[in-house]
Amino acid sequence: MCGIVGYIGKKNTKKILLDGLKELEYRGYDSAGIAVLQQGEFSSYKATGKLINLQEKTKDFITDKFAVGIGHTRWATHGKPTELNAHPHVGESSYVVHNGIIENYAELKKELLTNGVTFLSQTDTEVIVHQFEKNLKTVSSPFEAFKETISQLQGAYAILLVTKSEPETIFFAKNGSPLLVGIDTDNDKYFASSDTPLIGYCSDVNYFEDGEYGYVTPDTLRIYSKEHQLQEPHFTKLPTNKLSAQKDGYRFFMEKEIYEQHDVITDTLLGRLSESSVHFDELETDFFEGIEEIKLCACGTSYHAALTASYLFERNSKIKTSVEVASELRYREPILSKDTLFVVISQSGETADTLETLKMAKNAGLKTLVICNVDNSSMVRLADASLLTRAGVEKGVASTKAFATQVTIFWMLSLYVAKEREALSQAEIIEQVALLREVPSSVKVSDALHERIKRLSKRYLHGHGFFFIGRDIFFPLALEGALKLKEISYLHAEGYPSGEMKHGPIALADPELFTIALLPQHLLYEKAKSNVEELSARDATICAISPLVFDKADDFIQTQSHKHYMLEFFEMMVILQLLSLEISIRLGNDVDMPRNLAKSVTVE
Ligand code: AGP
Repeated sequence: MCGIVGYIGKKNTKKILLDGLKELEYRGYDSAGIAVLQQGEFSSYKATGKLINLQEKTKDFITDKFAVGIGHTRWATHGKPTELNAHPHVGESSYVVHNGIIENYAELKKELLTNGVTFLSQTDTEVIVHQFEKNLKTVSSPFEAFKETISQLQGAYAILLVTKSEPETIFFAKNGSPLLVGIDTDNDKYFASSDTPLIGYCSDVNYFEDGEYGYVTPDTLRIYSKEHQLQEPHFTKLPTNKLSAQKDGYRFFMEKEIYEQHDVITDTLLGRLSESSVHFDELETDFFEGIEEIKLCACGTSYHAALTASYLFERNSKIKTSVEVASELRYREPILSKDTLFVVISQSGETADTLETLKMAKNAGLKTLVICNVDNSSMVRLADASLLTRAGVEKGVASTKAFATQVTIFWMLSLYVAKEREALSQAEIIEQVALLREVPSSVKVSDALHERIKRLSKRYLHGHGFFFIGRDIFFPLALEGALKLKEISYLHAEGYPSGEMKHGPIALADPELFTIALLPQHLLYEKAKSNVEELSARDATICAISPLVFDKADDFIQTQSHKHYMLEFFEMMVILQLLSLEISIRLGNDVDMPRNLAKSVTVE
């Protein structure tokens, strides 16, 4: 997804911009560019593909004086990923970068074209710079022109704009797409669309709210609310540790993040468990008062965590629970009743569809909760309450440790609600709390396990597709296993409830159809086993994952013998993640930045 950086000051502007864009690479992009205004003249460079291409183009460009600069990584929405469509976009004497979508760009463009403006790109963004320059001709100052431009835009945006008509200024605006400003010890200002590019440069940052706009100069930072009131900035401390954002010797971030699961789940549990109950300091004691139903809503992997949670809420907390795909819920005019707790789940806290459903629920007067990995993200700021997953920065586009911590939080939350509603006996809660403490060890990757999966992976590089099958709570895990495989290996994979195979999909069974079968010991083992036997009888190639030896499988990954199905769930989750990773590596794919995908999907 698109990323933004900006800088105003006397330091090496080119380096700051390119380093910042590098930090945003993990979000996924297909072109990048920068524009720098130095001694009254603009220099702009753009390149398609990886950042190395932009670095190559700018290798002789020197920024050793006061300058203002903006940069962007673009993930194509309107128009192909070409150099002309890459940001920054230029007008007569100004440049703009933008994240989000300008919904009324077509109307604005039509009018600008009638005024004789020439467009160079197919993007929605380009209208911003031309509209600004049009306004500049009729108002008293560049700031007024910028303000006027913002008021004419509909849609979601984070915008930085620089112009020769005010060469020591960066104009900014934020609505629905994240944007923050940081300050260093020399009072130089830095912009970014997430905080990673600013780590190491700034100690304090201000996250803009929706509707805010303004400008920075070497000495000032002016922020206006959407009601045009001058705002005081609210600076908060930025984390300083960049180490966790590096690969630590692993081949890919995804691999590092799979191995990190033991530690991050330990963090997720920290301070939240006592002998006999679960505590969330973040929740008011009466938070669940009057709540009769839970509605969970998310996208992608977070949606699979939500599905998993629905089994836990109904089984442990005995509360009616439904699950929604955010992009579907948005437009289907759902009936939202006030005794429903609306829970959104998001690693990033910025996913556009999920964020919009949160706004919908708030507008309908529902109590809202977000399960999120990023503090200060849009969803965390908007929801009534938030539970942070504490997974740390997740750089691999394929989500792993975020999912693991989301499921951990949900297991805890189901016990928390169970206690409130007296849905489980005290003894049952004590038993599950003790099991929760065993989750970190269940996700530890042993050398033997990783080696086994590495060897096995070479047998699964072809064929005409994969079925991942499981029953009950292992069905959402099967869905997640299939999503993991398809997003990084580009092989076709589907997740199915094991019992559904005979209702259609089994017709595909043959030796070139690979079935990854989840056979936990403690949940419907016999039933799931007969479903796999049906596939085996039709000569499908089967890789069974189970603690119990299964001789009808072609391949078998034996898991440890656990006391509870949730511990089996977590161990199998790791196996599925490693299997996708190793297949993808063998196929020579870019595991961390798979084609066509972005880490944070901030457009609908
Ligand atoms: C997971 O591997 C994905 N790449 C993707 O499905 C992701 O989970 C989805 O886009 C939702 O993101 P979020 O959790 O940041 O909201």
